[in-house]
Amino acid sequence: MVTILAGGVSYSEALPDGSNLVVRAGVRKFPWPHLKYKCGMGKCGTCASRVLAGAEHLPEPNWKEREKLGARLAEGWRLMCQLWPTHDLTITQE
Ligand code: FES
Repeated sequence: MVTILAGGVSYSEALPDGSNLVVRAGVRKFPWPHLKYKCGMGKCGTCASRVLAGAEHLPEPNWKEREKLGARLAEGWRLMCQLWPTHDLTITQE
């Protein structure tokens, strides 16, 4: 189950294991239209999201996340285009 908080509203949906949220949003599946993104390649930072729950199941940040997010990593921010979650996840971009 992925939950995204956007505009003060919580949206949730069960997703296939290993889905990439930016790829899904790109083909107009949940979490579209709630997830902001652009490049899908870890370059623009638009998909940056703060993980509110489930961070313990995510892999270590890759070099693109470390480069783009810097100190925000320690505050729970991740790049959704660089992740393929396999467990429940709650995120926000607010
Ligand atoms: S969509 Fe550009 S960094 Fe993720």
